[in-house]
Amino acid sequence: MTATPATATGGALVDWPARAAALADELAAAGKLASPAWRAAVQAVPRHLFVPRFYVRRDDRMHALAADDPATSRDWAEQVYTNTALVTKLGHDEPGGPPVYLSSSSTPGLITRMLETLDVHDGHRVLEIGTGTGWNAGLLCHRLGAASVFSVDIDPDLIETARARLAGLGYRPTLAVADGALGLAAHAPYDRLIATCSVPSIPWAWVEQVRVGGVILADLRAGLGAGNLVRLTRTAPDRAEGMFDAGYATFMQLRHTPGSSPVPFMRASADTPVSESATTLDPRTPWSNRVVWFLAALRIGRRYRLGYTRGDPRHGPEAVSIATADGSRAEIALAAGEHGAHAVRETGPARLWQHVEHAHRQWAAADQPDWPRLGLSVTPTQQTIYVDAPGNPLATLTTPAV
Ligand SMILES: C[S@@+](CC[C@H](N)C(=O)[O-])C[C@H]1O[C@@H](n2cnc3c(N)ncnc32)[C@H](O)[C@@H]1O
Repeated sequence: MTATPATATGGALVDWPARAAALADELAAAGKLASPAWRAAVQAVPRHLFVPRFYVRRDDRMHALAADDPATSRDWAEQVYTNTALVTKLGHDEPGGPPVYLSSSSTPGLITRMLETLDVHDGHRVLEIGTGTGWNAGLLCHRLGAASVFSVDIDPDLIETARARLAGLGYRPTLAVADGALGLAAHAPYDRLIATCSVPSIPWAWVEQVRVGGVILADLRAGLGAGNLVRLTRTAPDRAEGMFDAGYATFMQLRHTPGSSPVPFMRASADTPVSESATTLDPRTPWSNRVVWFLAALRIGRRYRLGYTRGDPRHGPEAVSIATADGSRAEIALAAGEHGAHAVRETGPARLWQHVEHAHRQWAAADQPDWPRLGLSVTPTQQTIYVDAPGNPLATLTTPAV
């Protein structure tokens, strides 16, 4: 859809109902929005009021697009009702460091897919972790009534602005500034819990605060590029379990203090790899297979960097590199040598490539499962990834419960 500057004056996007309807059509055509009730919510809750300013990356820098800035309002208007995540708050872990995304309005199609997966019914009470702009809370209010909607964010500014925006539309859900890892005990139990930030393990408080039979939907993330949505049912007072989603999703990570990354930026180690070996596993495989990389990340730990080492500029990168904060580093040559083997060079206390190879063997031995065959069981003391049924454990989450 093309926008004219006149439609975006001061954030008054006069043709927004048509834009919202077009977005709903697009999501429906893409298989991300099927139910009339959620379609009605997408068309009734004006996304543009929740994102008067957002940031886009251009030429490797972040630029603000704002409804009230004549220089950018046209661009702003063109993007608000597209199926795109919009970054709304930036921070820095260190002066001069790369920008950290602190909040965003998630991709609409991901949100509608999650809301449908959540399977809410009239009268359900829902807790959202990660209020952000408040748009998702607005959709929930439209569907269930504000009295059934509870949402928390770690960032007080975000709660304040979301509260004002929602009130402007006549919605007064319960919003609270809180570390979502603790849930919102004061208003428990909930029928449904939806997290729009990722967690390295499921906080036990979430299970405790959802009634038996209730559902938790969250992005379980072992590290960069390593995780997916999982839908758990509380099957007993001391247990929740369920399967990973067939699609793919990724959310920014839950952090325990406002304004900082949970896993701080890590500079690459300059150490030269010393030990040499060879592998028949193509280093591109774990990158292109998200399940393998998830299993590998569970072993490597959350704080790692991935990259390519530069070779001759005429031929592109030479090797894939993995580095961790303890100074461990592995470089795996992209080109195969004799007998299809790739050279591996490693240094530091941990042999990182061995973790990846181990993960690949685990995955192969389990008959190469994709996400829908993977499940997660959660008890107060242990969280286990399984294949097809809880009796077939594949890996244990070692990350302490957040
Ligand atoms: C992707 S945004 C949420 C999008 C939001 N649902 C919306 O509709 O705009 C993730 C949010 O999680 C919040 N967050 C991060 N850590 C948190 C924590 N410990 N507790 C609650 N919220 C947290 C961030 O401040 C951010 O606003």
